[in-house]
Amino acid sequence: MILQKHTRSFNLLWRLQLVLILLSSTLANGVERKDFYIVFLGAHHTLNSDIIHETHLNVLSSVKGSYLEAQESMVYSYTNSFNAFAAKLSENEAKKLSEMDEVLLVFRNQYRKLHTTRSWNFIGLPVTAKRRLQFESDIVVGVLDTGITPESQSFKDDGLSPPPAKWKGSCGPFANFSGCNNKIIGAKYFKADGNSDPSDILSPIDVLGHGTHTASTAAGTLVPKASLFGLANGTARGAVPSARLAIYKVCWTSSGCADMDILAAFDAAIHDGVDIISISIGGGDPSYVVDVISIGSFFAVSKGILTVASAGNDGPDMATVTNTAPWIVTVAASGIDRAFRSTVILGSGKNVSVMQGIGVSSFNPKQKQYPLINGVNAALNSEAKEYARYCFGGSLDPNKVKGKLVYCKLGTYGTEAIVKEIGGIGAIIERQRYLDVAQVFMAPATIVNMSLGHTITSYIHSTRSPSAVIYKTHEIRKPAPFAASFSSRGPNPGSQNILKPDIAAPGINILASYTLRRSITGLKGDTQFSKFNLLSGTSMACPHVAGVAAYVKSFHPDWTPAAIRSAIITTAKPMSKKMNNEAEFAYGSGQLSPTRALTPGLIYDMDHFGYIQFLCHEGYSGATLSVLLGSPVNCSSYLLPGAIGHDAINYPTMQLILKSNKDTTIGVFKRTVTNVGLGPTIYNATIKSPKGVEITVKPTSLIFSHTMQKKNFILMVKAKSMASMKIISGSLIWRNSVYYVRSPIVIYSP
Ligand SMILES: *[C@@H]1O[C@H](CO)[C@@H](O)[C@H](O)[C@H]1NC(C)=O
Ligand SMILES: *[C@@H]1O[C@H](CO)[C@@H](O)[C@H](O)[C@H]1NC(C)=O
Ligand SMILES: *[C@@H]1O[C@H](CO)[C@@H](O)[C@H](O)[C@H]1NC(C)=O
Ligand SMILES: *[C@@H]1O[C@H](CO)[C@@H](O)[C@H](O)[C@H]1NC(C)=O
Ligand SMILES: *[C@@H]1O[C@H](CO)[C@@H](O)[C@H](O)[C@H]1NC(C)=O
Ligand SMILES: *[C@@H]1O[C@H](CO)[C@@H](O)[C@H](O)[C@H]1NC(C)=O
Repeated sequence: MILQKHTRSFNLLWRLQLVLILLSSTLANGVERKDFYIVFLGAHHTLNSDIIHETHLNVLSSVKGSYLEAQESMVYSYTNSFNAFAAKLSENEAKKLSEMDEVLLVFRNQYRKLHTTRSWNFIGLPVTAKRRLQFESDIVVGVLDTGITPESQSFKDDGLSPPPAKWKGSCGPFANFSGCNNKIIGAKYFKADGNSDPSDILSPIDVLGHGTHTASTAAGTLVPKASLFGLANGTARGAVPSARLAIYKVCWTSSGCADMDILAAFDAAIHDGVDIISISIGGGDPSYVVDVISIGSFFAVSKGILTVASAGNDGPDMATVTNTAPWIVTVAASGIDRAFRSTVILGSGKNVSVMQGIGVSSFNPKQKQYPLINGVNAALNSEAKEYARYCFGGSLDPNKVKGKLVYCKLGTYGTEAIVKEIGGIGAIIERQRYLDVAQVFMAPATIVNMSLGHTITSYIHSTRSPSAVIYKTHEIRKPAPFAASFSSRGPNPGSQNILKPDIAAPGINILASYTLRRSITGLKGDTQFSKFNLLSGTSMACPHVAGVAAYVKSFHPDWTPAAIRSAIITTAKPMSKKMNNEAEFAYGSGQLSPTRALTPGLIYDMDHFGYIQFLCHEGYSGATLSVLLGSPVNCSSYLLPGAIGHDAINYPTMQLILKSNKDTTIGVFKRTVTNVGLGPTIYNATIKSPKGVEITVKPTSLIFSHTMQKKNFILMVKAKSMASMKIISGSLIWRNSVYYVRSPIVIYSP
């Protein structure tokens, strides 16, 4: 039982410092189980929020029986962007509501999980990069996360003027929260379920460190000599050090991140006037009309606000990517050229072996060598032997472990804490997956691969008194970029016609601000605290892109969200298929390229109409789209004659899923590009076709006479059937004498 549980949840446990494991908080301990539900009504007929709220209560009263009961059970009345409310309901009440004419959609609230110094230099945004400070300081980045640490040096407001005039947000006062300044110009928290853990503080204060980390990566100010105990030492900073932050705390220690709270945060952020939303939370429904991040970001994009979201940490398994709506920028994690190693020395005297383990251990050894024991030989009793091999809690004999380093196979997150708690020194942990990530340890520990693991176990077996030592971690350089092993992969479960993820950004061992309210590992017994911490995840990659979106917006304040997204996607630095089998499904169009994104040359622009057209072509009925639009649409007036999915959207990437029952599949992609460079100019097409695929473009040259002019082209892809689960890719590049506009073309056989 224990073994199965641990091995199955290994992936989650390993990400504990970033990921909250969520449990449904409602229990069936009465006659009728009640859950929180979100109820969507039609379009607003008034702008008066009191009247809208009154309507919500009236609708709810009709199933609750009384106005008073309706008031008691309602936890949110969303009145700014969405016409919806959240309330505690029985299944029967939810069903009754869903049958009412004025109700569009009812769904049960779910709980989601949360899914840096050198990274900016690595991707080419040096401290000296050109900036338009006046415009940058007018930009507000909204962060939906675990809150913020206002005392952090990253959020000092030196030199910043008061918030821009358009800003409508607010900032407490809240308990245990020192308040806002000219950097953090808004802070709110959302928690409607009432469940609380003693470590939760009902204020925007961050007790987990995650939100502080992501906010400082997006828009933190410069902090020189930032490091984690000397590691990753350098200047910590966000992409836009002069931009403002608005904090919306939606994730909690006790319950994770509730849909109803996320929706409330979107409603508030849109109302407050943020420019860009960064959300490192995932795990929703693939349907674009049911997932709250998809719904919230749709309302945001219709107000000109771009949402950037993390792709998820469920890789390298295929089709795991989340937050895949075409109006969201979906961010994969990549590795930079820095890694962390600890030297391990086995044995003493003349015959020693030296190897390099992976991870961050800040401990200097106090002895030259420590006795070393294999977990399997330290079992509490014979029944515990199979668990002791993996050093699971409760399986090891404290007497056998005391004062020793323990070798553990496939240790879970916190293995070293289990060993330390019973008197051991630390652990050498063998692992087969995720060796690109340096986990931070609370005691001396390191990770080795299977072949080094074999060397260690044979050494232990070969001698009477095996010994070893783990040295404090040092930094090395390694080839990069590469897609992070954990980063969620395509193909997109939400649509066959949109390539996701869109882009890759640094997400491995990122140094950024953290909280002193939590130890650096969050593990029991950890006494290490630091203002900066190294975290990994697509959570860390997301604010890199959100920050760059703000950077692009500071140069082009009038660009649409689609234009900013297009600029980010088409200027990405191509990544190598050799290092990542899943190619674009792992890294999208490639590595984020901040300074190039300022001047993309051409953009693939889109308006609201385009998204509705796309959804109609995807087969969403006019009635289901009313959740996004407030009222049903007549899809037949949106359908393009003869169009099929992949040419019904002006997306900067192209994806063709092969039909299994056909020898040849033909994809037709109609696109429109806008010249955002100077005119007149001529762009010529260059096509790279993979073997067995014919790609043509018409016309092959686009002649622009002036800036902001639009031109159409048609790309045709003809691909033969191929082995299942195979992905091949080509590209289309529009090039003039200055710019280079690249779109990956992905062909996949399901
Ligand atoms: C929060 O503030 C209250 C009242 O000032 C105080 O009693 C409490 O200790 C504070 N909690 C934390 C975790 O700082
Ligand atoms: C970090 O680097 C700076 C020089 O760039 C140095 O002065 C400082 O001592 C270093 N800090 C640590 C903790 O190594
Ligand atoms: C010492 O040498 C023997 C034989 O070469 C080898 O098997 C053993 O693993 C070595 N011990 C260490 C600590 O490397
Ligand atoms: C295991 O790690 C060692 C040292 O880093 C490396 O040389 C070796 O190639 C790795 N083996 C495998 C199978 O990855
Ligand atoms: C929807 O639009 C089509 C074409 O514009 C029209 O023929 C049809 O009557 C409309 N349907 C409804 C229900 O309005
Ligand atoms: C584009 O093609 C035209 C015609 O073939 C050629 O004259 C021109 O030099 C090309 N421009 C670039 C930037 O390659």
